[in-house]
Amino acid sequence: MYNLVYKSIAKTLSTSQINEILVKSRDFNSKHDITGCLIYHEGVFIQYLEGGSKDVLYLFERIKVDDRHYEVKLLSNGNIYSREFDTWSMAFLSEEIPNEAFEYIKLMVSSNDGEDEDMSVIPNPTTKKFWLAVKNLVIRLKHKT
Ligand SMILES: Cc1cc2nc3c(=O)[nH]c(=O)nc-3n(C[C@H](O)[C@H](O)[C@H](O)COP(=O)(O)O)c2cc1C
Repeated sequence: MYNLVYKSIAKTLSTSQINEILVKSRDFNSKHDITGCLIYHEGVFIQYLEGGSKDVLYLFERIKVDDRHYEVKLLSNGNIYSREFDTWSMAFLSEEIPNEAFEYIKLMVSSNDGEDEDMSVIPNPTTKKFWLAVKNLVIRLKHKT
């Protein structure tokens, strides 16, 4: 079992284009036993993927050349013993459209405000990197005027 997290900059995308990515991803990922989470907020994507290394790396090669985003930057990757996400999910990180996923993410990143090293409940470095990147995005969001 293998996981990775990357960050990228989205091109200007409509809600239906985002939806297209989501529908396609759910179909492909469930067929290939890939789980994870895609965060999209104000033009930034952060995606966490986990599954068999061949499947995840093959998918990542396709994602990297997708022209709906650019500056795809791998933040962390490695081998894992078990999954962190049971299902594929996509969260829209937006204060304007509050939703359950966003509330959950806020809870995840605020529970250890100012204590980055106290993320010991999340054992995997790639998962840790994912939550830290999401946390940065949320903090940026909070401090906006
Ligand atoms: C930010 C982002 C995340 C994506 N995540 C996935 C994903 O998790 N699973 C997936 O099958 N496609 C995902 N895609 C779509 C792929 O890049 C690609 O379009 C899709 O695999 C279809 O490839 P194909 O046109 O070669 O069939 C994502 C695209 C973007 C821009």
